[in-house]
Amino acid sequence: MKKIYQILFEHSSEVMKNAYSPYSKIKVGAAVITKDGYIFAGCNVENSSYGATICAERAAITKAISEGFKEFKAIGIISDRFKFISPCGICRQFIAELAPNIDVYLFNSDGKFKRFKIKELLPIGFRI
Ligand code: THU
Repeated sequence: MKKIYQILFEHSSEVMKNAYSPYSKIKVGAAVITKDGYIFAGCNVENSSYGATICAERAAITKAISEGFKEFKAIGIISDRFKFISPCGICRQFIAELAPNIDVYLFNSDGKFKRFKIKELLPIGFRI
């Protein structure tokens, strides 16, 4: 049976190829795995109005939520540029609210990873 990090690495690196990033030229992929083992993957989708850009992490989680999934085990993130891309502040806030106990795997291109709890990446996050 495949390990969770292998599944996340495979799906995030595959979806990364679909990135729409004509402005930054950076490709990012993210894959989230639900409590029951379903996988949703997303890439960054940029826009000429830069602020409308959607990051890969939010694309993946939004797909899962839209399909009715609410509980998440882990998310994996990879890019074609950075070793161990680190999620932006908006994505940390987004992940923390929808998946407060999720494990976050940051991959490099070899499939090596660093694993964090979202609470480590966003301590004392904002909540209403
Ligand atoms: N990006 C992500 O997809 N996730 C992050 O956590 C950081 C940034 C994307 C957004 C944009 O398309 C590009 O990387 C440069 O900011």
